[in-house]
Amino acid sequence: MKVTVIGTGYVGLVAGACFADFGFDVTCIDKDESKVAALRAGTVPIYEPGLTEIVGRTQTNGNLHFVSAYQDAIPNADVIFIAVGTPTKDEGGSADISAVIAASEELAPLLRGCTVIATKSTVPIGTGQRLDALFRSAAPDADVAIVSNPEFLREGSAVRDFVEPDRVVIGAEADWAASTMRALYRPIEDRGIPVLVVDRATAEISKYAANSFLATKIAFINEVADLCEQAGGDVRSVADAIGLDTRIGNQFLKAGPGFGGSCFPKDTRAFVSSSERLGIRQRVVSAAVHANEARKLHLVQRVADACDGDLSNARVAVLGLAFKAGTDDLRESPSLFMVPELVRLADEVRAHDPVAMPVARDTFTGVHYGETVDECLDGADVAVILTDWPEYRELDPKMLAGTMRRNVIVDLRNMMDADTLEAHGVSVVGIGRRE
Ligand code: UGA
Repeated sequence: MKVTVIGTGYVGLVAGACFADFGFDVTCIDKDESKVAALRAGTVPIYEPGLTEIVGRTQTNGNLHFVSAYQDAIPNADVIFIAVGTPTKDEGGSADISAVIAASEELAPLLRGCTVIATKSTVPIGTGQRLDALFRSAAPDADVAIVSNPEFLREGSAVRDFVEPDRVVIGAEADWAASTMRALYRPIEDRGIPVLVVDRATAEISKYAANSFLATKIAFINEVADLCEQAGGDVRSVADAIGLDTRIGNQFLKAGPGFGGSCFPKDTRAFVSSSERLGIRQRVVSAAVHANEARKLHLVQRVADACDGDLSNARVAVLGLAFKAGTDDLRESPSLFMVPELVRLADEVRAHDPVAMPVARDTFTGVHYGETVDECLDGADVAVILTDWPEYRELDPKMLAGTMRRNVIVDLRNMMDADTLEAHGVSVVGIGRRE
């Protein structure tokens, strides 16, 4: 079976490389010729554990190819995945599918024979129907089936999530298209992983509903954390106590600086706006979106409070800029909201991130960087942990106590061993617990 993937971002590149590793003949298309040249040379432009090895291995065995011209990869394809970006379009939060439409218009005249066109990009509900109409008019003689095949992988564990997902969802209207898609996922289904074949709208809604539910869970536990701070509980223990109820589950209950990344903020907003277009109000998810936006700024006050309410003479060390550990992605990261505000309020902001500093240098102004954590902390009055990088947990308490000017850590990920640090004279302000 010949597979073509349009778009070599997180989703497209991971899917293409993994399908090639399953043994299929895969060609990835990207308009950016320099990116194609780099990928052909084995250079993967994103930080994603395990991906470079698979891209190298599957190019060497001849299963994976990169091209920039549609003509080279569309006519013979059995399945074409559309995996281009669908960013937030406007204030209302709807997703911009112009790249999906442009790709469809470009590939339509090149289709030959029977082809499945599967959307892997997260697309607004009803996009499948819209593409159906597009192909009916742009490729009236081609035998085409539009399928929704949402992707549930996480940045930082994308390869593992693709190969060992909790489930695969295939939204197809035609039986032949569902069978073709199922054959692609056979190596996964053979391992006992559920492959759900549903109608297209169900698949589209499932993607938004999954991300919205998880994001709501996080917004919820963050408000429980606020309550714990006032009432004297500990949100980590509350999360354990409720998470052991199998109806709730223990994942995505870590209180923190608010959810970020390229998916949750965008998809929750798009879920709300897609629903509104159909006359349905999503009150629960709307509340989660607002609570999350407010949180990112509100936590700046916690840093100021750690310095007696005034940062004007303080040097602030920011540990972690990426929206979560395991990625260099800054999109919608709490750091994008908090760092500029800290720059405005503090005497100096010095930041560190194990992998995101090159991206950060092009993003923030007025920030100094420490090449190492020690350099970042040197002379700082307060350190703020924004990203849950494991190496921060391993920091030597003696080093911390000896390097900082005022020994205060605002741990917005609740990841440090507060007892040990406090035994070394470093005070730790966490989330959802009283000091
Ligand atoms: C998310 C979903 O988890 C994936 O299933 C989905 O495929 C993906 O979006 C997507 O739509 O493409 P991702 O954005 O990579 O994946 O990151 P997550 O690990 O889900 O984290 C999202 C945000 O929630 C991060 O800012 C993280 O720090 C935060 N988070 C997560 C918490 O604050 N607490 C938690 O308990 C878990």
